[in-house]
Amino acid sequence: MLILGIESSCDETGVALYDTDRGLLGHAVHTQVAMHEAYGGVVPELASRDHIRRLIPLLDRVLAEAGAKREGIDAIAYTAGPGLAGALLVGASFAESLAFALDIPALPVHHLEGHLLSPLLARDRPDYPFVALLVSGGHTQLMRVERVGSYELLGESVDDAAGEAFDKTAKLLGLGYPGGPALAALAAQGTPGRFKLPRPMLHSGDFDFSFSGLKTAVLTAAKARELTDADKADLAAEFQEAVTEVLATKALGAVKHCGLKALVVAGGVGANRRLRERLDAGAAKAGLRVYYPEVALCTDNGAMIAFCGAQRLLAGAAPPEGGAFTIRPRWPLADLLV
Ligand code: KG4
Ligand code: ZN
Repeated sequence: MLILGIESSCDETGVALYDTDRGLLGHAVHTQVAMHEAYGGVVPELASRDHIRRLIPLLDRVLAEAGAKREGIDAIAYTAGPGLAGALLVGASFAESLAFALDIPALPVHHLEGHLLSPLLARDRPDYPFVALLVSGGHTQLMRVERVGSYELLGESVDDAAGEAFDKTAKLLGLGYPGGPALAALAAQGTPGRFKLPRPMLHSGDFDFSFSGLKTAVLTAAKARELTDADKADLAAEFQEAVTEVLATKALGAVKHCGLKALVVAGGVGANRRLRERLDAGAAKAGLRVYYPEVALCTDNGAMIAFCGAQRLLAGAAPPEGGAFTIRPRWPLADLLV
């Protein structure tokens, strides 16, 4: 079964072809970072218009890479939420019309479920059940994953998501958008510990997180004096230490709490090197294993959507009646059951 995946929930247009026997046959992503940079963040209307421009060329590229034809596609999976309404609508209308034209099913996919299952696309992948740490720009959640479509929320951020905290702190330090990679690069040049930042909720006894206070603490430190470039690097390093210590400690704690052996990390912040170092070191001590998606599949992409659609179809999910569709800009992951 050949599944086309379409991702357009935010500022990346992703298209991919996943074959249930042969694996990922092709994937292409166009990032809008350069376009939004001038505005310091994503401009939803510009994002939607750009998705329109990119989808067909990306589809042609992926078909060529896979050596496939449109007529060979068996089903189309697309991100139906959560995300920017206009951007989602572009992907949804594209996917639904192509599916209608080819007379094949179209399957709405939850963006976070895509991230959650993306480590299963790697050659070295865990068996169910496992714990997943979802760390993206909009979400920070720990989930117990029993199988496709069976997820239990163990804990989540009560305020800012980890990626959001990276982005906002980067902005405070005068770094560009997207802030996460820029802040991580600056942190690599700094020394943690010179500035002292809190480790929010580290000992809260649950699996929830809070990151908005950390951003405020950075702001307070930044206001206290004129920051030199070296100060900024040290502050960035301490910020990264604080976020990754809390994330790694709680994620590994959740795996032990569930009596499981495997942790899966998904979402853009999963690309953070320091987070990976901490998780790997902690896991080695505790006899646990951590699985990551390929770095290219950590941030938004069509491959995870195609894969997720394929898994749902294999698990027996019936695609909704063709033609009509609903996007869900806000869509709790807990609503998903196969
Ligand atoms: O999963 P993703 O691509 O999009 C969402 O669904 O949100 O995640 C994007 C987030 C952004 O907040 C970005 O700053 C963050 O992931 N990010 C990073 C790194 N790379 C991306 N944060 C910290 N370190 C990184 N290396
Ligand atoms: Zn995402």
